[in-house]
Amino acid sequence: MDKLVIKGGNRLSGALPISGAKNAALTLIPCALLTEEPLTLRNLPRLADIDGFQHLMGQFGVTVSIQGNRPEDFGRVVTYEATRVTNTVAPYDLVRKMRASILVLGPMLARMGEATVSLPGGCAIGNRPIDLHLEALKAFGAEIELAEGYVRAHAPDGGLPGGNFDFPVVSVGATENALMAAALANGTSRLGNAAREPEIVDLCNLLVAMGAEIEGIGSSDLTIHGVKRLHGATYRVMPDRIEAGSYACAAAITGGEVTLDGAKAGDMAATLHALRNIGVECEEVKNGVHIAANGKLLATNLSTAPYPGLATDMQAQLMALLCRAEGTSVLTETIFENRYMHVPELTRMGARIETSGRTAIVHGVGSMTGAEVMATDLRASMSLVIAGLAADGTTNVNRLYHLDRGYERLEEKLQLVGADIERVGAE
Ligand code: EPU
Repeated sequence: MDKLVIKGGNRLSGALPISGAKNAALTLIPCALLTEEPLTLRNLPRLADIDGFQHLMGQFGVTVSIQGNRPEDFGRVVTYEATRVTNTVAPYDLVRKMRASILVLGPMLARMGEATVSLPGGCAIGNRPIDLHLEALKAFGAEIELAEGYVRAHAPDGGLPGGNFDFPVVSVGATENALMAAALANGTSRLGNAAREPEIVDLCNLLVAMGAEIEGIGSSDLTIHGVKRLHGATYRVMPDRIEAGSYACAAAITGGEVTLDGAKAGDMAATLHALRNIGVECEEVKNGVHIAANGKLLATNLSTAPYPGLATDMQAQLMALLCRAEGTSVLTETIFENRYMHVPELTRMGARIETSGRTAIVHGVGSMTGAEVMATDLRASMSLVIAGLAADGTTNVNRLYHLDRGYERLEEKLQLVGADIERVGAE
């Protein structure tokens, strides 16, 4: 298996292109199931998760054609055409590899009146149940049964009536599934305490471009007037705010200065706020965000929360940065119950971190040392890359498939701004 070899100590400087957002793309692609007309997505990142999702779409009879990229986009242009849906089952083998597969449930049910999707099961960062996805669809009139590890959903004859649902806990995925289903329901649906992450806004904007009627976009109270049919569209995937935030941490830990080309400051306000508290200058510039650090990092306390709070997907990367800050920081992870899997690995590199339940206390250290490390999830792996960029000596990050799921051309982008990083195949 490949690994990343990082020689720490280089100060990052220059411009780094930000890709289309993985987590937006993973909810925009299943929208193709909502219409028999072609859906073209631009600025799609080249990632293992996107390839996996496209493979899943192929199983349903959706044709996927890749058209290369456009000069103004970093990513690909891909057209999805679900003229005829030939299969309504998302099998265990594909769902197991990619939890986001559950996002076909809502659109498939709305278009076909039935959908069968394997239960995804737990994952490295927690239990991750899908009860809220199912409760919302039930509130819209779906009949749902669980059997043999699968969710089988049916709409009444004539389609989903639509309905009201208040989320007891904010869920990005459940809000996405509910939105896609409600768009084609017979009546009006209302979602209370809905997620309002920028990726949800991106989904709403695509649905509107396809002919959906949605009120309250960007708020936690969404009203969706179902329409009889949706049409095709061409839509550009939003920039990846988590990728941008990750590279901001990478630049900051090296005392560097980078421009995140294409990043949208407004989508990453909580991350930029945290970075400023750590002593990093962050400035919105034309078509991007400029990050400048002077080598001195300050401790700060952080707590993750649903948007507009600090993204849980930034917790590990900010922790890596705080390992090198002056003073003691307290981090609280409120979204996932088991998202400190990077702590033992950072500790092996010389970090001083104590965890207790959802809290982590990070005592800043003057230096860290390179080590052989591996992580169990995407963002945890990125935190090890960030720590490695400023560690003494060489860090080998193993289990690269996690990073390949979510960071497009990671080593190329970091090389572009001066990092000593390369991917090597296993001996
Ligand atoms: N939850 C439930 N029941 C549900 C759904 C969620 O209890 O039916 C709980 C979860 O267990 C969790 C909380 O609600 O404690 C929030 O989970 P959410 O549903 O918002 O997460 P998700 O939709 O499964 C997406 C991203 C994650 C990101 C979270 C939170 C995608 C494909 N994934 O997951 O991204 O951490 O929202 O912002 O959009 C990543 O990119 O590394 C990643 C894990």
